Amino acid sequence: MDIQNRTILIVGLGLIGGSVARALKIANPDQIVLASDSYQESLRDAIEDGVIDESGALAEVCGRADLVVLAVPPLIATALLPEIAASVRPGTVVTDVGSVKSRIVECANTLDAVFQSHFIPGHPIAGSEKSGYGASRADLFQNRNVILTPRPGNTPSALAMVNSLWRLTGAHVLGMSLANHDRVLAATSHLPHLLAFAIVDVLVKQEQSEDIFRYAAGGFADFSRLASSDAKMWSDIFVANASATAVVLDDYIEDLQLLKAAIVAQDHARLMQLCSGAKKARDNFVNKYFSGKTQTIMTKEILDFHVQPGGHIGGSLRVPGDKSISHRAIIFGSIAQGVTHVKGFLEGEDALNTLAAFRELGVTIVGPEKGELTIYGVGMHGLQPPRRALDMGNSGTAMRLMAGLLAAQPFACELSGDESLNQRPMRRISDPLQRMGARIETTGSGTPPLKIQGGPLKGIDYQLPMASAQVKSCVLLAGIYAEGETRVTEPAPCRDHTERMLSGFSYPISVEAGGRVCRLQGGQELRACDIDVPADISSAAFFLVAAAIVPGAELHLQHVGVNPTRTGVITILRAMGANISLTNEQLAGGEPVADITVRGGALKGIVIPEDQIPLAIDEFPALFIAAACASGETILHGAEELRVKESDRIAAMAEGLQQLGVVTETYPDGIRIVGGQLGGGTVESRGDHRIAMAFAIAALRAKAPIVIRDCANVATSFPGFLELARQAGLGISASQRQD
Ligand code: S3P
Repeated sequence: MDIQNRTILIVGLGLIGGSVARALKIANPDQIVLASDSYQESLRDAIEDGVIDESGALAEVCGRADLVVLAVPPLIATALLPEIAASVRPGTVVTDVGSVKSRIVECANTLDAVFQSHFIPGHPIAGSEKSGYGASRADLFQNRNVILTPRPGNTPSALAMVNSLWRLTGAHVLGMSLANHDRVLAATSHLPHLLAFAIVDVLVKQEQSEDIFRYAAGGFADFSRLASSDAKMWSDIFVANASATAVVLDDYIEDLQLLKAAIVAQDHARLMQLCSGAKKARDNFVNKYFSGKTQTIMTKEILDFHVQPGGHIGGSLRVPGDKSISHRAIIFGSIAQGVTHVKGFLEGEDALNTLAAFRELGVTIVGPEKGELTIYGVGMHGLQPPRRALDMGNSGTAMRLMAGLLAAQPFACELSGDESLNQRPMRRISDPLQRMGARIETTGSGTPPLKIQGGPLKGIDYQLPMASAQVKSCVLLAGIYAEGETRVTEPAPCRDHTERMLSGFSYPISVEAGGRVCRLQGGQELRACDIDVPADISSAAFFLVAAAIVPGAELHLQHVGVNPTRTGVITILRAMGANISLTNEQLAGGEPVADITVRGGALKGIVIPEDQIPLAIDEFPALFIAAACASGETILHGAEELRVKESDRIAAMAEGLQQLGVVTETYPDGIRIVGGQLGGGTVESRGDHRIAMAFAIAALRAKAPIVIRDCANVATSFPGFLELARQAGLGISASQRQD
């Protein structure tokens, strides 16, 4: 949304309000910025500095504004909001910047309905212990997070306007639910400020306080910096967020009592345990979140898995949400009209990078909170030009699908990835997109980064050269924007989540020839819907194999997606003699799901039917372990696609299996595995999540421990793998390694 020719009013020209005004004027010197404040001096200075154009009494300037930014302490904000509501024109958008959201929303809820639908609560996570207009800076929000806590009743254009305002200041716009915001901020901001005020207060009251302050070293200065913050504002915040702050304060008081007891008892071990735990946790989050890369979630640590041989497998598990469906839920929810609710979302790094990319494209998304997302769709034509290259991390799916979507947008962008993704073939998508009229460039070797200059596209009739759902989905995503019909024919059935989800979002698509051909007309709309993401069969596959290879095992996997284009792993394992049964089969949000029970027993090697390859494309690392534990040989041909996944999975698996003493022979398009006894040893995952998890389950039938190197990328698809694997019966642990 273009806010540059709108009139913006800042109410409260302090540190935050002044910094917003400065940033807006830098982004666009012609932007009209009005202000209202009780400090006439600040207003005069700001006019002199060219930071605002005019000031006036609150009611008067409210009547002239298109967008009001309420930037005063929380208790003053609740006092002013009714007056603002009474003075603005209907349709004027109002946002605030308070560090506590529930109070202001309770206040807004008492005001008229049109005002409520145009009130978007916000909170920039930026500031300083300094306060007032004099401390304001144009770059205060640059690369900082701003949290919006919208509600489904908010008018989409109002939300888009507030989102655009913060984009202009250089901030990243995140979304959170109201309750979660106040709980999280109580812990991460309100408690530390309270403690800083408290420690200074305690020291001031000591008899030798002068000496204490005179000799105070850097630690005290660091710790007490926050106590120089604005006293009025922070008293307001503590009162406004009293209940959430009291809860976390109680936890802290409990910890202090424990620490005191440990000190009095001179319990060095207890102190060491607490301090080293806290140090490790802080070092980890600094590394993960403060490394200067705010968009992408980067797994910086180098993790190795250590798995003990043997073990029993049993119990009942639910593995995390489906990765393919999670990516698509964000993509379609973002370009739909209306609000999409997603549950069961995969909070793995791949899907989180897609989420971050759509936030960068101007979409407001609340969550994930316990697997739930609320996506405030911007419609087919509402995406905003990204301000930087979009980093798709490790995910080929995200890059290929987004390329189709972005090729049709009226702006330029660049898509990049990690070391593995930057080696994966992209001509398979740039070729059809270019045929549609797209301007898209790869490197000379056909790999990322992708440089896309979006523009109008024309529908094509495309025969996929390989059975790839990513390529099919890329062309269909471009097709919904293209002029005329887009028709895609696949050589063999591959996963159809895009087709199902387009229908779920009410986009007309016809699927013919048993799913092999799909057709759609460009230029229609998507309408928001609710999505229930089933557990990912590709993650469940490791446990299917784990139970299948351990005689006597019995494992239940709950609510697993069993879309027929994904169940090759079940067909192949059954052909090898595995005992797998499905119960509770039902449709959840257009996708078939079931509970799966696997009982362990003897497996036999087979020739894998080629028609099953696209239906089990991600499950081969796990299936190769089943083959290594089976009697006789397993032979696979026609699977050259495995060579261009997150790693060359044929080479990576063959190398690891040989390391464990298993006889293998590789072909350009497959592998022969001779089943037998697995030994122990060290294997390389090549940074591929599925290779790492496959060798973890191999230990169940190994004679000696297995160490798997470079496993951090398991977090791309399967957060919580270690815990679930332990719960199922694996003796697995992880260690960190320095590069
Ligand atoms: C996916 C399709 C498959 C699969 C990938 C996810 C998708 O890739 O390997 O993990 O979500 O469309 P291809 O379609 O390229 O084989």
